[in-house]
Order: sequence, then C-alpha cells, then structure tokens
Amino acid sequence: MVLDNFVVFEGIDGAGTSTQLKILKSRPESSRFDFSAEPTDCETGRFLRQILGGKVELDPKTTAFLFAADRAEHIYGKNGIIDSIKNKNKAVIIDRYLFSSLAYQGVSCGKELPRKLNEDFPLPQLLFFFDIAPEKSLNRIKGRGFTEIYENSEYLTKTRNQYLDVIKEYQNLESAKDMKIIIIDATQSVEEISKIIWSHISKLPIFNS
Ligand code: TYD
Repeated sequence: MVLDNFVVFEGIDGAGTSTQLKILKSRPESSRFDFSAEPTDCETGRFLRQILGGKVELDPKTTAFLFAADRAEHIYGKNGIIDSIKNKNKAVIIDRYLFSSLAYQGVSCGKELPRKLNEDFPLPQLLFFFDIAPEKSLNRIKGRGFTEIYENSEYLTKTRNQYLDVIKEYQNLESAKDMKIIIIDATQSVEEISKIIWSHISKLPIFNS
C-alpha cells in the first residue's frame, strides 16, 4: 500500500539527506510538513542508538527486529506518521525508512529476515535515494568526531549495492507502482539537489487540497 503525502529520504551514511531535510524545514511551506527520522527518538530508537554506537552488542538478527519494532511505533503509534497524514492533514518527510533495513540489515543478516519483517509497512509516495560512493560520503562525515558501527568503507560499499538491488526490485514491483523513486546523484551541489527535491515535493497532493 502506498501512503499519499509520505516522503522518504534514503542513502548510505554521509549521503547528505540531513542537509536537505534542514533546507526543507526552513522553507515557508514547512508548516505543511511533519519531519522525522529513523531510528526514532522513542525508547526503541534510543536503544538502537546504543547499538549503533557500539555500546550494546547484539546478534544482527535481533537488531533487524528492533529496527522493525521502532518503525512500527513510528508508523502506527501515537503522533506517528499515519496520525500526521490522516488526522493532522500534514505531509510527512522522514530520514530513513524500511529501505535502510533492507540495505543495511540485508548486509548484516541476509536479505530474507529484513524483507519478512518489513513487508507490511506502507510505502511512501516519493522515495529519494541519494547515491554516492562510500569513499566520498565517509570523507564528509570524517570530521564529525564519532563513528557508528556501519560507518566504514567495506560495509557501506556492500550497503550501497544492496540499496541499488532493492531499488531495482521495487521499480518492477506491481504493489509499488504508485511509489515514485527518484535517484539523486548526491555528489551534486546542495542547491542543485534541493531544486530537484522541491520539483517533486511541490507536486504532492497536499498542495492541491
Ligand atoms: P543516520 O541516519 O545516519 O543518523 P546520524 O546521522 O544521526 O548517525 O544513522 C542511522 C544509522 O542507522 C545508519 O548507519 C543506518 C542505520 N540504520 C539501519 O541499519 N537500519 C535501519 O532500518 C535504519 C532506519 C537505520
């Protein structure tokens, strides 16, 4: 199922999704949107941050379950995505969603489990995939001062390939035919990318209602 007015940004670490979200938040139209991210800032998301920081070490399968649990709360919970879209008449734009699980956990514990855990979540109307080589993206986040468990060239190379496979699959999936996938060359300038993004977001149904 595709949810109207639901937008997802995806890409490997350092691809630049957060920068583009910041730009959208500063637009005059920003009151029409609710913004959020996964992992969420609920308890489930906070626990995931400890795993990502290497403080808690778990089997990769457990981590896949936890990302899916955090997502369930994000979608269906109080003040969640469905509530924002259906009851508050907002468009929702989020940084990372189930495609992150299919790509990152696809690498750490194989494709099957993340696929199974994520098959029933609603799909976004727009999916932006920020594509960049890991060498370049890691360069961008190098100065940040801390490193999370997936932030290395070998892991992100596999993750990027997994993302590209997943996208190809969704491009051919009948149940995803109403989800528009936009692949962005994330090496372009911040301004160029923000123009491309706005050209799609400005056509969301929320602006015609
Ligand atoms: P990120 O979104 O880059 O946030 P920050 O910039 O605050 O570090 O980091 C989240 C990490 O979580 C990123 O490495 C990808 C990973 N992740 C998964 O492995 N699976 C998922 O389902 C999600 C949502 C994120």
